[in-house]
Amino acid sequence: MAEDILLNKGSKEEQYQTLYPQVAALLEGEPSLIANLANMAAALKEQFGWLWVGFYLVMKDELVLGPFQGPVACTRIQKGRGVCGSAWASAKTLIVDDVEKFPGHIACSSLSRSEIVIPLLSNGEVWGVLDADSSSLSDFNKTDSIWLEKFVQLITVEEA
Ligand code: SME
Repeated sequence: MAEDILLNKGSKEEQYQTLYPQVAALLEGEPSLIANLANMAAALKEQFGWLWVGFYLVMKDELVLGPFQGPVACTRIQKGRGVCGSAWASAKTLIVDDVEKFPGHIACSSLSRSEIVIPLLSNGEVWGVLDADSSSLSDFNKTDSIWLEKFVQLITVEEA
């Protein structure tokens, strides 16, 4: 089976609508957590062309870098630190329109201007985050948070 992603050049909503069933099909029946995180990051990067998109996973008391697409990134983030650590601490999606105005923002790339972080939840516990960075200011809004929260639900923590 070919694994190409059919890209959509329409509105953001249309792009998510086209991408979602393709990612769902790609992940269906695949038990490898790493494979699924990697393919989801790749599909989002291909469709949206963000500067960086990927996952950090909770390991003991910190977030550790997981599968991603984009420039090299910092490997460990403490709880409550930066946008990722804050989304972990609050178990809430965070949208940052201008990363320079976010206290404690961790600048993995000087090109990053706006960011969205979605917690990965299992039984109310955060076990990781999805992080996307854009080189444009205010690139993320409610459409992204609604859809990306739906995307991460395709991934289950029981996978190994
Ligand atoms: N900017 C993030 C750190 C991760 S990188 O952007 C990939 C933060 O403040 O948590």
